[in-house]
Amino acid sequence: MPVCSIPLSALREGKPPSAKQARVWCERLEAGEILYFPETPVPIPADDLRFLLEQRQTGSGLHKNIAYKPVRDQLSGADEKSTNAAEVEQLRAVMRRYSASVTAFLKDFLAPYEQRWLLDYASFRPLEEQGRDLALRKRNDMLHTDAFPTRPTRGRRILRFFHNIHPTRTRDWVVSEPFARVVGAFAPGRLAIPHADGRMAGAGKRLAQAVGLANIVPQLKRTPYDQFMMELHNAMKENAEFQRDCVKESVNFPPGSSWMVYTETVPHAVLAGQYALEQTFLIDRAAMVTPESAPVAILEKLAGARLV
Ligand SMILES: [Fe+2]
Repeated sequence: MPVCSIPLSALREGKPPSAKQARVWCERLEAGEILYFPETPVPIPADDLRFLLEQRQTGSGLHKNIAYKPVRDQLSGADEKSTNAAEVEQLRAVMRRYSASVTAFLKDFLAPYEQRWLLDYASFRPLEEQGRDLALRKRNDMLHTDAFPTRPTRGRRILRFFHNIHPTRTRDWVVSEPFARVVGAFAPGRLAIPHADGRMAGAGKRLAQAVGLANIVPQLKRTPYDQFMMELHNAMKENAEFQRDCVKESVNFPPGSSWMVYTETVPHAVLAGQYALEQTFLIDRAAMVTPESAPVAILEKLAGARLV
Protein backbone atom coordinates (compact mmCIF):
# COMPACT_ATOMS: atom_id res chain seq x y z
CA MET A 1 0.00 0.00 0.00
CA PRO A 2 1.55 3.29 -0.94
CA VAL A 3 2.70 5.33 2.03
CA CYS A 4 4.91 8.21 1.01
CA SER A 5 7.22 9.21 3.86
CA ILE A 6 8.27 12.84 3.95
CA PRO A 7 11.09 13.78 6.33
CA LEU A 8 11.04 17.29 7.77
CA SER A 9 14.29 17.98 5.92
CA ALA A 10 12.33 17.70 2.65
CA LEU A 11 10.26 20.72 3.60
CA ARG A 12 13.04 23.20 2.92
CA GLU A 13 13.16 24.80 6.37
CA GLY A 14 10.08 27.00 6.44
CA LYS A 15 10.10 27.74 2.71
CA PRO A 16 7.02 26.69 0.73
CA PRO A 17 7.50 23.84 -1.76
CA SER A 18 7.91 24.78 -5.40
CA ALA A 19 4.72 24.87 -7.50
CA LYS A 20 5.89 21.70 -9.25
CA GLN A 21 6.52 19.87 -5.97
CA ALA A 22 3.13 20.95 -4.55
CA ARG A 23 1.42 19.47 -7.62
CA VAL A 24 3.29 16.18 -7.06
CA TRP A 25 2.05 15.98 -3.46
CA CYS A 26 -1.54 16.60 -4.65
CA GLU A 27 -1.17 14.01 -7.39
CA ARG A 28 0.06 11.36 -4.96
CA LEU A 29 -2.81 12.02 -2.57
CA GLU A 30 -5.32 11.87 -5.42
CA ALA A 31 -3.89 8.51 -6.49
CA GLY A 32 -4.67 7.11 -3.02
CA GLU A 33 -1.32 7.47 -1.26
CA ILE A 34 -0.93 8.40 2.38
CA LEU A 35 1.49 11.29 2.82
CA TYR A 36 3.24 10.51 6.08
CA PHE A 37 5.45 12.79 8.17
CA PRO A 38 7.52 10.79 10.71
CA GLU A 39 7.87 14.09 12.57
CA THR A 40 4.84 16.35 12.33
CA PRO A 41 5.36 19.55 10.34
CA VAL A 42 2.70 21.17 12.55
CA PRO A 43 4.08 20.96 16.11
CA ILE A 44 1.71 21.72 18.96
CA PRO A 45 2.74 24.20 21.68
CA ALA A 46 3.89 22.30 24.80
CA ASP A 47 1.17 23.81 27.02
CA ASP A 48 -1.55 22.84 24.54
CA LEU A 49 -0.25 19.29 24.35
CA ARG A 50 -0.11 18.98 28.14
CA PHE A 51 -3.68 20.26 28.42
CA LEU A 52 -4.96 17.73 25.86
CA LEU A 53 -3.19 14.77 27.46
CA GLU A 54 -4.41 15.69 30.94
CA GLN A 55 -8.11 15.55 30.08
CA ARG A 56 -8.56 11.86 30.81
CA GLN A 57 -6.82 11.93 34.17
CA THR A 58 -8.69 14.92 35.53
CA GLY A 59 -12.11 13.35 34.92
CA SER A 60 -12.96 16.40 32.86
CA GLY A 61 -15.99 16.33 30.57
CA LEU A 62 -13.59 16.93 27.70
CA HIS A 63 -12.39 13.33 27.62
CA LYS A 64 -14.72 12.25 24.82
CA ASN A 65 -14.20 12.85 21.11
CA ILE A 66 -14.69 16.54 20.47
CA ALA A 67 -15.47 18.32 17.22
CA TYR A 68 -14.38 21.90 16.56
CA LYS A 69 -16.02 23.99 13.84
CA PRO A 70 -13.39 26.52 12.79
CA VAL A 71 -15.74 28.63 10.71
CA ARG A 72 -17.96 29.25 13.76
CA ASP A 73 -15.22 28.87 16.38
CA GLN A 74 -17.49 26.36 18.11
CA LEU A 75 -16.93 23.12 20.06
CA SER A 76 -19.31 20.19 20.26
CA GLY A 77 -19.11 16.93 22.17
CA ALA A 78 -18.03 18.36 25.54
CA ASP A 79 -19.88 16.88 28.49
CA GLU A 80 -21.35 20.03 30.01
CA LYS A 81 -22.18 18.48 33.40
CA SER A 82 -18.58 17.71 34.26
CA THR A 83 -16.81 20.47 32.40
CA ASN A 84 -16.27 23.95 33.65
CA ALA A 85 -16.46 26.97 31.39
CA ALA A 86 -12.74 27.74 31.70
CA GLU A 87 -11.83 24.24 30.48
CA VAL A 88 -14.16 24.53 27.50
CA GLU A 89 -12.68 27.91 26.64
CA GLN A 90 -9.17 26.52 26.90
CA LEU A 91 -9.94 23.58 24.64
CA ARG A 92 -11.57 25.91 22.14
CA ALA A 93 -8.40 28.02 22.07
CA VAL A 94 -6.21 24.92 21.64
CA MET A 95 -8.35 23.67 18.75
CA ARG A 96 -8.47 27.11 17.18
CA ARG A 97 -4.65 27.24 17.16
CA TYR A 98 -4.36 23.68 15.85
CA SER A 99 -6.83 24.27 13.03
CA ALA A 100 -5.12 27.52 12.03
CA SER A 101 -1.65 26.00 12.01
CA VAL A 102 -2.67 22.98 9.88
CA THR A 103 -4.44 25.32 7.47
CA ALA A 104 -1.38 27.58 7.25
CA PHE A 105 0.86 24.60 6.54
CA LEU A 106 -1.36 23.10 3.82
CA LYS A 107 -1.94 26.45 2.16
CA ASP A 108 1.60 26.17 0.85
CA PHE A 109 2.18 22.44 0.91
CA LEU A 110 -0.91 21.73 -1.19
CA ALA A 111 -0.99 25.10 -2.96
CA PRO A 112 -3.17 23.92 -5.90
CA TYR A 113 -6.05 23.31 -3.46
CA GLU A 114 -5.92 26.43 -1.33
CA GLN A 115 -8.40 28.61 -3.16
CA ARG A 116 -10.86 25.75 -3.57
CA TRP A 117 -11.32 24.04 -0.24
CA LEU A 118 -13.93 24.28 2.47
CA LEU A 119 -12.46 24.22 5.94
CA ASP A 120 -14.46 21.49 7.67
CA TYR A 121 -14.38 20.29 11.30
CA ALA A 122 -11.30 19.55 13.36
CA SER A 123 -11.42 16.88 16.04
CA PHE A 124 -9.72 15.83 19.26
CA ARG A 125 -9.85 12.06 19.78
CA PRO A 126 -8.80 11.15 23.32
CA LEU A 127 -10.62 7.79 23.44
CA GLU A 128 -8.83 4.47 23.19
CA GLU A 129 -9.86 3.06 19.81
CA GLN A 130 -9.33 -0.58 20.71
CA GLY A 131 -12.45 -2.29 22.02
CA ARG A 132 -14.86 0.63 21.69
CA ASP A 133 -18.44 -0.53 21.99
CA LEU A 134 -20.09 0.96 18.90
CA ALA A 135 -22.82 -0.06 16.44
CA LEU A 136 -21.43 -1.72 13.30
CA ARG A 137 -21.89 1.32 11.04
CA LYS A 138 -20.13 3.55 13.57
CA ARG A 139 -17.19 1.25 14.21
CA ASN A 140 -13.81 2.72 13.28
CA ASP A 141 -12.10 -0.66 13.32
CA MET A 142 -13.96 -1.93 10.23
CA LEU A 143 -12.46 -0.96 6.86
CA HIS A 144 -14.51 1.82 5.30
CA THR A 145 -14.39 4.91 3.15
CA ASP A 146 -15.67 8.07 4.81
CA ALA A 147 -19.07 9.66 4.15
CA PHE A 148 -20.85 12.10 6.46
CA PRO A 149 -24.53 11.26 7.07
CA THR A 150 -25.51 14.85 7.82
CA ARG A 151 -22.95 16.76 5.78
CA PRO A 152 -23.08 15.78 2.09
CA THR A 153 -20.00 16.92 0.21
CA ARG A 154 -21.71 17.19 -3.21
CA GLY A 155 -18.72 15.72 -5.00
CA ARG A 156 -16.03 17.43 -2.93
CA ARG A 157 -13.29 15.14 -1.68
CA ILE A 158 -12.57 14.52 2.02
CA LEU A 159 -8.95 15.23 2.89
CA ARG A 160 -7.94 14.62 6.50
CA PHE A 161 -4.76 15.64 8.25
CA PHE A 162 -3.97 13.62 11.42
CA HIS A 163 -1.51 13.91 14.29
CA ASN A 164 -0.81 11.15 16.82
CA ILE A 165 -0.23 13.13 20.02
CA HIS A 166 0.04 10.09 22.33
CA PRO A 167 3.41 10.38 24.08
CA THR A 168 4.40 6.72 23.67
CA ARG A 169 1.91 4.66 21.65
CA THR A 170 1.42 4.19 17.94
CA ARG A 171 -1.94 4.76 16.24
CA ASP A 172 -2.63 1.55 14.37
CA TRP A 173 -4.41 1.64 11.03
CA VAL A 174 -5.21 -0.89 8.37
CA VAL A 175 -5.69 0.37 4.82
CA SER A 176 -6.93 -1.29 1.66
CA GLU A 177 -6.71 -0.52 -2.03
CA PRO A 178 -8.02 2.86 -3.20
CA PHE A 179 -11.47 3.54 -4.56
CA ALA A 180 -10.80 3.02 -8.26
CA ARG A 181 -9.86 -0.59 -7.52
CA VAL A 182 -12.38 -1.54 -4.82
CA VAL A 183 -15.44 0.23 -6.17
CA GLY A 184 -15.85 -2.48 -8.79
CA ALA A 185 -16.69 -4.92 -6.00
CA PHE A 186 -19.60 -2.76 -4.81
CA ALA A 187 -20.95 -1.06 -7.94
CA PRO A 188 -23.03 -1.70 -9.83
CA GLY A 189 -23.75 -5.19 -8.46
CA ARG A 190 -24.44 -4.16 -4.89
CA LEU A 191 -25.29 -0.49 -5.32
CA ALA A 192 -27.34 0.75 -8.23
CA ILE A 193 -26.10 3.55 -10.43
CA PRO A 194 -28.60 5.18 -12.80
CA HIS A 195 -27.93 5.11 -16.54
CA ALA A 196 -28.36 8.36 -18.40
CA ASP A 197 -31.70 7.09 -19.71
CA GLY A 198 -32.94 6.31 -16.21
CA ARG A 199 -32.57 2.50 -16.35
CA MET A 200 -30.82 1.01 -13.38
CA ALA A 201 -27.62 -0.97 -13.51
CA GLY A 202 -27.61 -3.98 -11.22
CA ALA A 203 -30.42 -5.28 -9.10
CA GLY A 204 -30.61 -2.57 -6.45
CA LYS A 205 -32.90 0.40 -6.56
CA ARG A 206 -31.59 2.23 -3.56
CA LEU A 207 -29.78 4.94 -5.44
CA ALA A 208 -32.89 5.69 -7.49
CA GLN A 209 -34.86 5.95 -4.27
CA ALA A 210 -32.22 8.28 -2.98
CA VAL A 211 -32.51 10.49 -6.04
CA GLY A 212 -36.24 10.71 -5.39
CA LEU A 213 -35.67 11.42 -1.73
CA ALA A 214 -33.20 14.18 -2.53
CA ASN A 215 -35.82 15.81 -4.73
CA ILE A 216 -38.65 15.47 -2.23
CA VAL A 217 -36.69 16.49 0.85
CA PRO A 218 -34.34 19.17 -0.42
CA GLN A 219 -33.04 20.01 3.03
CA LEU A 220 -31.14 16.72 3.01
CA LYS A 221 -29.13 18.08 0.09
CA ARG A 222 -27.76 14.59 -0.41
CA THR A 223 -26.96 14.18 -4.08
CA PRO A 224 -26.96 10.74 -5.77
CA TYR A 225 -23.18 10.88 -5.32
CA ASP A 226 -23.50 11.45 -1.57
CA GLN A 227 -26.07 8.70 -1.31
CA PHE A 228 -23.78 6.27 -3.11
CA MET A 229 -20.83 7.18 -0.90
CA MET A 230 -22.96 6.73 2.25
CA GLU A 231 -24.12 3.35 1.01
CA LEU A 232 -20.58 2.37 0.11
CA HIS A 233 -19.44 3.24 3.65
CA ASN A 234 -22.17 1.02 5.10
CA ALA A 235 -21.75 -1.78 2.56
CA MET A 236 -18.03 -2.08 3.29
CA LYS A 237 -18.57 -2.33 7.02
CA GLU A 238 -21.39 -4.83 6.61
CA ASN A 239 -19.51 -7.06 4.17
CA ALA A 240 -17.65 -9.67 6.22
CA GLU A 241 -16.10 -11.18 3.09
CA PHE A 242 -14.60 -7.84 2.05
CA GLN A 243 -13.33 -7.20 5.57
CA ARG A 244 -11.70 -10.62 5.65
CA ASP A 245 -10.41 -11.09 2.11
CA CYS A 246 -9.55 -7.66 0.67
CA VAL A 247 -5.95 -6.67 0.11
CA LYS A 248 -4.87 -4.87 3.25
CA GLU A 249 -1.84 -3.51 4.98
CA SER A 250 -1.11 -2.38 8.54
CA VAL A 251 0.32 1.06 9.09
CA ASN A 252 1.33 2.03 12.63
CA PHE A 253 1.82 5.77 13.03
CA PRO A 254 4.35 6.56 15.76
CA PRO A 255 3.91 9.17 18.50
CA GLY A 256 4.53 12.67 17.16
CA SER A 257 3.88 11.75 13.54
CA SER A 258 1.31 13.21 11.14
CA TRP A 259 -0.27 11.88 7.98
CA MET A 260 -2.90 12.90 5.49
CA VAL A 261 -5.07 10.97 3.09
CA TYR A 262 -8.26 11.19 1.08
CA THR A 263 -10.41 9.16 3.44
CA GLU A 264 -13.43 9.02 1.13
CA THR A 265 -11.42 6.90 -1.30
CA VAL A 266 -8.79 5.01 0.71
CA PRO A 267 -10.51 2.31 2.80
CA HIS A 268 -9.14 2.55 6.33
CA ALA A 269 -9.75 1.21 9.83
CA VAL A 270 -8.35 2.31 13.18
CA LEU A 271 -7.54 -0.69 15.34
CA ALA A 272 -5.83 0.93 18.31
CA GLY A 273 -4.47 4.20 19.57
CA GLN A 274 -5.44 7.05 21.83
CA TYR A 275 -5.13 10.83 21.59
CA ALA A 276 -5.13 12.18 18.07
CA LEU A 277 -5.90 15.49 16.46
CA GLU A 278 -7.39 15.83 13.01
CA GLN A 279 -8.45 18.57 10.61
CA THR A 280 -10.75 17.90 7.64
CA PHE A 281 -10.82 19.80 4.34
CA LEU A 282 -13.42 19.38 1.61
CA ILE A 283 -11.69 19.86 -1.71
CA ASP A 284 -13.50 20.89 -4.85
CA ARG A 285 -13.23 18.36 -7.69
CA ALA A 286 -12.21 21.23 -9.97
CA ALA A 287 -9.09 21.72 -7.85
CA MET A 288 -7.82 18.21 -8.54
CA VAL A 289 -4.50 17.95 -10.33
CA THR A 290 -5.87 14.69 -11.80
CA PRO A 291 -9.66 15.35 -11.98
CA GLU A 292 -10.30 11.92 -13.47
CA SER A 293 -9.20 10.34 -10.16
CA ALA A 294 -12.01 12.00 -8.15
CA PRO A 295 -14.58 9.40 -7.06
CA VAL A 296 -17.38 11.49 -8.50
CA ALA A 297 -15.65 11.36 -11.90
CA ILE A 298 -15.17 7.59 -11.65
CA LEU A 299 -18.81 7.05 -10.67
CA GLU A 300 -20.18 9.40 -13.31
CA LYS A 301 -18.21 7.51 -15.92
CA LEU A 302 -19.63 4.21 -14.64
CA ALA A 303 -23.15 5.62 -14.51
CA GLY A 304 -23.02 7.59 -17.74
CA ALA A 305 -24.81 10.37 -15.87
CA ARG A 306 -24.12 13.35 -13.65
CA LEU A 307 -24.37 12.47 -9.97
CA VAL A 308 -24.14 15.92 -8.39
FE1 LIG B 1 -12.98 6.95 8.69
